[in-house]
Amino acid sequence: MTLPAEHRQVLIASLPADRLQTSNFEVRMAPIPVPGEGEVLCRTVAITIGAGQRAGLQGSASYAGAPEAGRVMGGTGVAEVVSAGVGALRTGDLVWGQTGWQEYSVMRAKDLTVVDPSVSAADHLGVLGLNGVTAYFGVTEIGRVQSGETFVVSAAAGSVGHVAGQVAKALGARVVGIAGSDEKAAMLVDVLGFDVGLNRKSADFRNDFRAATPNRIDVYFDNTGGELLESALFRMNQYGRVVCCGVASQYDTSTPGPGPRGVPGLLVNNRVRMEGFLVFDFEQRYAEARAQLSAWMSAGRLRALTADYVGLDSAPQAFVDLLAGVTSGTPIVQVGST
Ligand SMILES: NC(=O)c1ccc[n+]([C@@H]2O[C@H](COP(=O)([O-])OP(=O)(O)OC[C@H]3O[C@@H](n4cnc5c(N)ncnc54)[C@H](OP(=O)(O)O)[C@@H]3O)[C@@H](O)[C@H]2O)c1
Repeated sequence: MTLPAEHRQVLIASLPADRLQTSNFEVRMAPIPVPGEGEVLCRTVAITIGAGQRAGLQGSASYAGAPEAGRVMGGTGVAEVVSAGVGALRTGDLVWGQTGWQEYSVMRAKDLTVVDPSVSAADHLGVLGLNGVTAYFGVTEIGRVQSGETFVVSAAAGSVGHVAGQVAKALGARVVGIAGSDEKAAMLVDVLGFDVGLNRKSADFRNDFRAATPNRIDVYFDNTGGELLESALFRMNQYGRVVCCGVASQYDTSTPGPGPRGVPGLLVNNRVRMEGFLVFDFEQRYAEARAQLSAWMSAGRLRALTADYVGLDSAPQAFVDLLAGVTSGTPIVQVGST
């Protein structure tokens, strides 16, 4: 295969002062990188974008380090191995790794996972990717949802949320999803099989939320923090569990709000467990999660939603859309052919 001399990269042009803009990024051409010892050259097929990457740009994601302008935007992708001969990797292998927002990348062979080419890149990055696995462990290990319990999830139409709700449903829970529009709320029920979908922007949201949780909440899967977390805390059952997955309501701003009222009083009185987690804590068990998620997909009990973008240059717009709640499912940016 003849390589081009140069490839496209998306750089962080400036750190966002408030809400993220596409102008915070710039596209540039750069020479194709040369792999060193133990490294391989890969051609990016597709990348995904997560809301947590905005926390990374804010400097509030412990695992992401300090954000810096002038760097290639980081991110997870599926790529094809171009240079072979390191370990068990072969030219043409499809791998999952930290490609960043660029057409070619050099990565350490030991950091790459070879993936099944018969499964789409979108599934490898979405439902079987970090967000799907986050949903799985958040529901099963942190929420420990039981059949017959009431399970509520925020950002329910999003990448983590739509999988979390379906996992809880597959485990026999009554599932209530909260999203940002009437259309998304209806989709949760009609397309994904949730029991109830709520629009957090509705004027009647407080009443709707109460009516949707007549037996209160056993597990609240919190993707947003902010007002929704506070509303859920006031509806928790005794011995309920709050799964602190992320704080999407506080990422796309320079002035994050204070924590919710009710902590710790409501937790004490109702013996509620509120627990944060990072998916990386479960790295040794990713294969187990992927096997179960795949089995549910094959059985028609889990449906993967994606928001599809074509071309690397569309990645900044996909990121802005994700944070604004324009899309449902996992953003997938197609960068090259498979
Ligand atoms: N703990 C971990 O290891 C881990 C791993 C991956 C992701 N996460 C977290 O999981 C959460 C979801 O991530 P994702 O990538 O799947 O993103 P996502 O849910 O696909 O997108 C974020 C969603 O948040 C909602 N939102 C935006 N502003 C909001 C506000 N002010 N109030 C309430 N909702 C708001 C929007 O949906 P609506 O407008 O429809 O409500 C938006 O679509 C994030 O908090 C992320 O940090 C955690």
